[in-house]
Amino acid sequence: MEPTQQPRKIILSGMQPTNNLTIGQYCGALRNWVELQHQYDSLFCVVDQHAITVRQEPAKLRKRTLDVAAMYMAAGIDPDVSTLFVQSSVPEHTQLAWVLECLAGFGEVSRMTQFKDKSAQHADNVNVGLFTYPVLMAADILLYNADLVPVGEDQRQHLELTRNLAERFNFHYSPTFTVPEPYIPKVGAKIMSLQEPEKKMSKSDANEKATIFLTDSDAEIRSKIKRAVTDSGTDIRFDAERRHGVANLMTLYHITTGASIAEIEQEFVGLGYAEFKEAVGEAIVAFIAPVRSRYEALRADEDTLKATLRRGGEHARDRARKTLRKVYKKTGFVEL
Ligand code: TYM
Repeated sequence: MEPTQQPRKIILSGMQPTNNLTIGQYCGALRNWVELQHQYDSLFCVVDQHAITVRQEPAKLRKRTLDVAAMYMAAGIDPDVSTLFVQSSVPEHTQLAWVLECLAGFGEVSRMTQFKDKSAQHADNVNVGLFTYPVLMAADILLYNADLVPVGEDQRQHLELTRNLAERFNFHYSPTFTVPEPYIPKVGAKIMSLQEPEKKMSKSDANEKATIFLTDSDAEIRSKIKRAVTDSGTDIRFDAERRHGVANLMTLYHITTGASIAEIEQEFVGLGYAEFKEAVGEAIVAFIAPVRSRYEALRADEDTLKATLRRGGEHARDRARKTLRKVYKKTGFVEL
């Protein structure tokens, strides 16, 4: 008898093209995408429609969208294995978002902490898109019936909302959407700012020294790590509660070298911050340099990059169309 083939489980994730990608995004999400893509039916998108919830210069947004796609590949996403696409090339995302918006409660969306943070950051532009953003994110995920969504810690609340919306739709109409699970790594889910290690490393931090970008030069990486804020202690010990700065550098060292935290503590017994920071800087340089050079080569061939994204978009769209057709039918939109 032929063995019955189980369809592979589905993962979907995305990043905003608002800046170059950071080592935080790599550690929290991209690293897992690369690892999981071989086991799962994987879709990765560059979420340009999310990006315009904050003012963008059109030419820069266009450029950054391609930058981010090239960086996905430079980090190890294989477009022959995974579906790689740009959100705006699949109009079904915003179409599904509207249906979900009509199921989402104003109160539950108001509770999203990212909305509160971003509206404080961009007080001059608290637009409706910024508010409904998490519902568009839910649409991104539900459109493909993703089982798993590999993200960093800051997306947990959005995933919870996505699950609630999926369950609500399934309850009001009939079972349609897979209720997705977040996939948040145990280590690296929240890489902290190098300058204010109590807060998350962010691609939009006004202080460039706070963030390592995957496009940074060796000299920039070394200098940022050297200047990273640590506490007044002297030993290299992991304490994420009280010694954020050192713990953060240890996490980066762990991810870029593969050494365990215990091994790192052992390696630096009797040594001070200066030696430790130097080692961390070198480890990050050794990790990023090949990613950066692959990125430069991929980014230089824009025609191939665009063709890859077009192909990914077509594939994603075929799948998205099927889900949306089902959703429209169940919602009561007449099929003509
Ligand atoms: P974005 O673009 O802010 O970040 C992309 C991913 O990187 C993770 N991340 C971090 N992880 C660890 N430490 C950090 N300092 C750090 N900074 C960012 C984020 O958790 C995220 O996984 N709303 C999403 C994009 C999105 C999406 C989706 C994600 C839109 N639709 C559908 C998954 C599925 C966002 O703004 O991520």
